[in-house]
Amino acid sequence: MKWAVIIILGCSVAETTLGWTYHHSLNTLNWKQAREWCQTNFTDMVVIRNQSENDYLVSWLPNRTGTPYYWIGITKEHPNDSWTWIGNNSTWIGNRSWAPNEPNNNHSTEFCVEIYVNTNSNRGQWNDEKCSNEKYAVCYEAQCNATSCERGRCQEVINSTTCLCEPGFEGDRCQTPVKCPRSYQPDDGYLICSKGNGTFNTTCQFKCHGFLVIGLSEVTCEATGEWKGPRPVCSSYKQALLAVAGCGALSSFFCICFCCIKHRKRKKITQERQPEDATSPPSDVNG
Ligand SMILES: *[C@@H]1O[C@H](CO)[C@@H](O)[C@H](O)[C@H]1NC(C)=O
Ligand SMILES: *[C@@H]1O[C@H](CO)[C@@H](O)[C@H](O)[C@H]1NC(C)=O
Ligand SMILES: *[C@@H]1O[C@H](CO)[C@@H](O)[C@H](O)[C@H]1NC(C)=O
Ligand SMILES: *[C@@H]1O[C@H](CO)[C@@H](O)[C@H](O)[C@H]1NC(C)=O
Ligand SMILES: *[C@@H]1O[C@H](CO)[C@@H](O)[C@H](O)[C@H]1NC(C)=O
Ligand SMILES: *[C@@H]1O[C@H](CO)[C@@H](O)[C@H](O)[C@H]1NC(C)=O
Ligand SMILES: *[C@@H]1O[C@H](CO)[C@@H](O)[C@H](O)[C@H]1NC(C)=O
Ligand SMILES: *[C@@H]1O[C@H](CO)[C@@H](O)[C@H](O)[C@H]1NC(C)=O
Repeated sequence: MKWAVIIILGCSVAETTLGWTYHHSLNTLNWKQAREWCQTNFTDMVVIRNQSENDYLVSWLPNRTGTPYYWIGITKEHPNDSWTWIGNNSTWIGNRSWAPNEPNNNHSTEFCVEIYVNTNSNRGQWNDEKCSNEKYAVCYEAQCNATSCERGRCQEVINSTTCLCEPGFEGDRCQTPVKCPRSYQPDDGYLICSKGNGTFNTTCQFKCHGFLVIGLSEVTCEATGEWKGPRPVCSSYKQALLAVAGCGALSSFFCICFCCIKHRKRKKITQERQPEDATSPPSDVNG
């Protein structure tokens, strides 16, 4: 119960951290200059990963009444290449990303993309343009850095960053190894953990106050926060002695019964076989 509460708290803390932010230039630049301006002052030119990000960006940018509009970070190098986002080679393009009749590759040289931010019906849609044209730059500033998430991957969405933790770690920065419950102890026994207090990827030994451990004496804390292996139990001297005595008594009883039955059976067989033996020929007659 306690651990469940901690896991839930960890997630909510991660959600409240601020994610990447958008910025735009006040002057127009060609696409290459615009990207350089973004890289100098922020992280890079804006990357749009899905339609809701596109809609958010458009609602955030100031409306323009006509060209020039804003450069976005999707481009290609040759006419036959596919349109590719800067950064991670994503090729995401939504069903209604391109404005009607775009991309038209006018003059076979339009390898950069602008986004219409206006009040017309093509608001928020894209148009391929010559990279040497001058437009406003739109940049993003990442909040994730090398130290954002200790044992996980930092993911940025609009206005928030989230640490996606590796299995076995939790917390807003994935800094805490998952803990296995201390209550998991055999009656009459206790856990000895060499390190980590019974956290993920550590091994603990079971010891008994009494006599012996039935089950594995060593358990490992798994990524799920559970001990691996069947729950061991401790046995006291008394129980052990009783068990041995009980076993002994039981086996002697069975032994006696077994011998008794066998003895009777043999006696019966001998009695039946005697008259038969007199008339039958020797068994190796065909040999
Ligand atoms: C993008 O693709 C190019 C060419 O295939 C490759 O050299 C580059 O490493 C890729 N970049 C990323 C971030 O995947
Ligand atoms: C690029 O980033 C997007 C959004 O983060 C992700 O969905 C996509 O899988 C990434 N692509 C590659 C090739 O890494
Ligand atoms: C192609 O570009 C020329 C001049 O750059 C322009 O006059 C013409 O309308 C464009 N054609 C299309 C289909 O956009
Ligand atoms: C920009 O235009 C859209 C569509 O007409 C409108 O909803 C929005 O309020 C405008 N934004 C600003 C900042 O004026
Ligand atoms: C890295 O990002 C975290 C938030 O994710 C921030 O608190 C920290 O100051 C940043 N560190 C550096 C060196 O920028
Ligand atoms: C689109 O991006 C937003 C913000 O980055 C994110 O919250 C949402 O989950 C994404 N949606 C899909 C379908 O990927
Ligand atoms: C184990 O937990 C105790 C109390 O919670 C703490 O004092 C001790 O430093 C911890 N040891 C390790 C190795 O984490
Ligand atoms: C688990 O512990 C071993 C030895 O201490 C280490 O080599 C390994 O990287 C750890 N695994 C994880 C997922 O932390």
